[in-house]
Amino acid sequence: MAQDRLSEALVVISGASSGIGAATALRFAASGARIALLARRTEKLTELAGEIGDRGGTGFPVTADVTDPESITSAIERIGAEHGRIDVLVTAAGFVSPGQDLRAWQDMVSVNVTGTLNCVHPALPYLQAAAEGPHGVADLVLISSVAGRAARPHNPVYSATKFAVNAFAEGLRQQVTENYVRVGIVEPGLVATEMTAHSWPPGAEEHEWLRAEDIADAVEYMVTRGRHAAVNEIMIRPTEQAR
Ligand SMILES: NC(=O)c1ccc[n+]([C@@H]2O[C@H](COP(=O)([O-])OP(=O)(O)OC[C@H]3O[C@@H](n4cnc5c(N)ncnc54)[C@H](OP(=O)(O)O)[C@@H]3O)[C@@H](O)[C@H]2O)c1
Repeated sequence: MAQDRLSEALVVISGASSGIGAATALRFAASGARIALLARRTEKLTELAGEIGDRGGTGFPVTADVTDPESITSAIERIGAEHGRIDVLVTAAGFVSPGQDLRAWQDMVSVNVTGTLNCVHPALPYLQAAAEGPHGVADLVLISSVAGRAARPHNPVYSATKFAVNAFAEGLRQQVTENYVRVGIVEPGLVATEMTAHSWPPGAEEHEWLRAEDIADAVEYMVTRGRHAAVNEIMIRPTEQAR
């Protein structure tokens, strides 16, 4: 979509309370978009909504847990009903655990895979309706990972969740692209966010990792193409990251 479409768009971002989701919301703010900020930490979302207002957009907090299908479905349906549309959904809610217990594995599947499906399912009818509207296109952007293209020995389950996201995105893309719902995945390497702050490799501070704003750049690029061009995949690593 062209940049001017963003000024009228209703954007939903999951995982908006920090990191990549928050940076993406701030990026969209400058275009004047209305942005539903979805995550569990209401205080962070409220603070972000204030910053979005200062930059010319409108942000509103939607407190919800992506692992709870009823609460996500009702939150997204409420957003769609109140605003009459959803033009863009960005799923950035994600979780990594270094734990090797079964519970840690299940939690990663629950947030990264089931949580993504819980957000996409209720939003799809709205995206399809938006694609039939005046701008003739709608966007779904899923934040995946380089770990979704090459499995890693230190966290095979995290990789598995991101492979699942990529497979879902590709199948769904083929299902809806002829209706002008574009589906894209962004696959970051190491980004300095809350997620990596807890699992930073030794000596990491000596390197130049990505910033959340670098990923916001990629998301913005995807959703601001003309309706004839679907950018389906962007992988972005820190220059120093070989794998
Ligand atoms: N950082 C990296 O190096 C990197 C690399 C590749 C891919 N990624 C992916 O990028 C995405 C964003 O991560 P980030 O790096 O920006 O980390 P982050 O700053 O920790 O952000 C994670 C976001 O997910 C939300 N979230 C987690 N569990 C949730 C739940 N159950 N329900 C609702 N929201 C939930 C968090 O909000 P609340 O805690 O407020 O709910 C937070 O807003 C993730 O999918 C991650 O896998 C990150």
